[in-house]
Amino acid sequence: MSSQADLIVGLQWGDEGKGKIVDHMAQEYDYVCRFAGGHNAGHTIVVGDKKYALHVMPSGILNPNAKNIVGNGVVLSPKDFIKEMEQFEALEGRLFISDKAHLLLPYHALIDQARERLKGKKAIGTTGKGIGPAYGDKVARVGHRVGELLAPAKLTLKIMEFFETNRAIFEAMDIEFPIQEQLLDELSEFKKVLSPFIVDTTLLLWEVLDGGKRVLLEGAQGTMLDIDHGTYPYVTSSSTVSAGACIGLGINPKDIGKATGIAKAYCTRVGNGPFPSEDLGEQGELLRTKGHEFGTTTGRPRRCGWFDAVAMRHALRINGVDQIALMKLDVLDGFSEVKVCVAYHKDGKTFDYVPYDLEGVEPQYRSFAGWDRCEGIQNFDKLPQNAQDYIHALEEIVGAKINIISTSPQREDTILR
Ligand code: IMP
Repeated sequence: MSSQADLIVGLQWGDEGKGKIVDHMAQEYDYVCRFAGGHNAGHTIVVGDKKYALHVMPSGILNPNAKNIVGNGVVLSPKDFIKEMEQFEALEGRLFISDKAHLLLPYHALIDQARERLKGKKAIGTTGKGIGPAYGDKVARVGHRVGELLAPAKLTLKIMEFFETNRAIFEAMDIEFPIQEQLLDELSEFKKVLSPFIVDTTLLLWEVLDGGKRVLLEGAQGTMLDIDHGTYPYVTSSSTVSAGACIGLGINPKDIGKATGIAKAYCTRVGNGPFPSEDLGEQGELLRTKGHEFGTTTGRPRRCGWFDAVAMRHALRINGVDQIALMKLDVLDGFSEVKVCVAYHKDGKTFDYVPYDLEGVEPQYRSFAGWDRCEGIQNFDKLPQNAQDYIHALEEIVGAKINIISTSPQREDTILR
């Protein structure tokens, strides 16, 4: 009997706390698959007294019974991924990397950083990891794929040729040409380490689904950072939404079963770009300190603000979410008032949907009375009445059920309704 894959997707600007839910859910699945993004993503998982930093590695790696797939939709930096792999033992047979995933090479990061510098104030605020240039090469059909690592001499020549063709650009950006012998050595080393893991993951996943295995699709970043449906150009370069799982793994929409959308009880974003419900005052600062809102990958302070129901409705519809997991409710403990952005205003118009241009929209808020403490509560009925009212109101405003509520970073402090 064949099975459908369940999906986890971020509903805001990333950093929704997917890590806690994925870690929790990964225990119940046979396969966990990453379908988009690269090492711009990141979360830390603590098991006992050991801390693991995951960037591209699927979260199933911490479940000894789960196998892990890095899909074709991912951009993979061999150097960084090998470092990530070093945290784990006995990966053979537990990790599969798509031969069609694109390589992210050091020059992609240099181009990313140079472009950001040149943009000055208009910079996107990328992670500087090379994500945009790697996906750019893929779409421009001048990228290099993981499968090419199996023939390092050929790939070396191809990369040297690529530098030659783009000599003017590399020189203008002050990016040094690779030394051919060194490049060959480096790529040969990547081959040595990675070749046992490189397979056709699409065929593998079809087999796994046809065999009725339990599969979890692990989204990275968030809907508002999606290349098509986010706040372009202040987005990442991949399809972060649920449809991205089909493209990034080679499955079809009917292969997807339950979709869980992850949202924080408030909003954050890292980097530049529109953020209608941002709070630049004391409340935003309080959210940042209480919520420890600093980037996992870059350490940058995250911009903070209120739950944006307009963006949420947009995200729910795009992703086809069956249930919402609302994270970090406890961060709102102690606020006298909690706000929700229910509409945007611009040029005398009111928007209850995400308009083409979010620049300069003003948020319209609904206010709710705050509550004392919900930290660590594991039962919905035990939450303070005002917190319960806030959840019910959110459900009504966004038109979807909040089935999971997180009240602390601890695994057990999770309310299941
Ligand atoms: P890039 O993905 O490095 O190109 O960055 C593009 C935008 O996406 C920037 O605003 C980043 O801060 C943001 N971004 C990328 N990855 C993440 C993530 O994992 N969490 C939150 N923001 C991210």
